[in-house]
Amino acid sequence: MVALRRPLQTDLPSVVAWYRDPEIARLTRYQTRQMTQAEIERFFQVRMLAPDALAYSIVELPSKRFIGFTTFSALDGDNGSVMFHITIGEQDAWGRGLGTEATQLMLHHAFDRLGLHRVGLSVFSYNTRAIRAYEKAGFRIEGRLREAIQRQGSYFDEVQMGILADEWVAAQYGTAATDGDADRSFVDEVVASR
Ligand SMILES: CC(C)(COP(=O)(O)OP(=O)(O)OC[C@H]1O[C@@H](n2cnc3c(N)ncnc32)[C@H](O)[C@@H]1OP(=O)(O)O)[C@@H](O)C(=O)NCCC(=O)NCCS
Repeated sequence: MVALRRPLQTDLPSVVAWYRDPEIARLTRYQTRQMTQAEIERFFQVRMLAPDALAYSIVELPSKRFIGFTTFSALDGDNGSVMFHITIGEQDAWGRGLGTEATQLMLHHAFDRLGLHRVGLSVFSYNTRAIRAYEKAGFRIEGRLREAIQRQGSYFDEVQMGILADEWVAAQYGTAATDGDADRSFVDEVVASR
């Protein structure tokens, strides 16, 4: 089980380590060059710590271990849409359902709290674990940018996925109550210690 909390300055060393992990870079980065420390710190300050950043740290429960982060970008108020991103950096946390859970918490946030109409994402075609997790959370494949990603001389598609508000509501119908998920959107005592 996971919860989302506001990012803390003390999260930075983990984020630096994750971005230096070649496997995470392969799965998440458009560029093949490794990010510098300065670039990671700037990303962390601007995209995670800034007051207007729609970014959350993912903690595993009950330990509250910091295992990854998730963000929204390109918030478009006119059209009620946003782009979703997630990185679980601790590889021992992969494949245990935690990413699907965190994605669902973010969708709950987007649709039930922010009142958005659409959440979109892009994922590399070879990232089958991510695509499966997104499908389990309710995303559908909408299209592909053919051979948009080059890795070691081979080209791969960039897959575009999306979920609409009514699809989210339909997916919730008959499943476990979302009230508990709402409680886990933020771990109050962790936020308070900021
Ligand atoms: C993508 C990510 C968020 C998914 O979270 P997760 O907790 O690992 O995924 P889950 O356990 O919730 O779901 C994974 C699903 O894919 C399946 N899966 C796992 N490894 C797989 C693989 N190598 N190939 C295909 N499917 C795989 C699992 O069996 C599971 O499906 P199931 O429940 O039907 O059996 C996480 O792995 C991650 O952050 N990875 C590194 C960064 C990344 O890829 N970010 C996304 C960039 S778009």
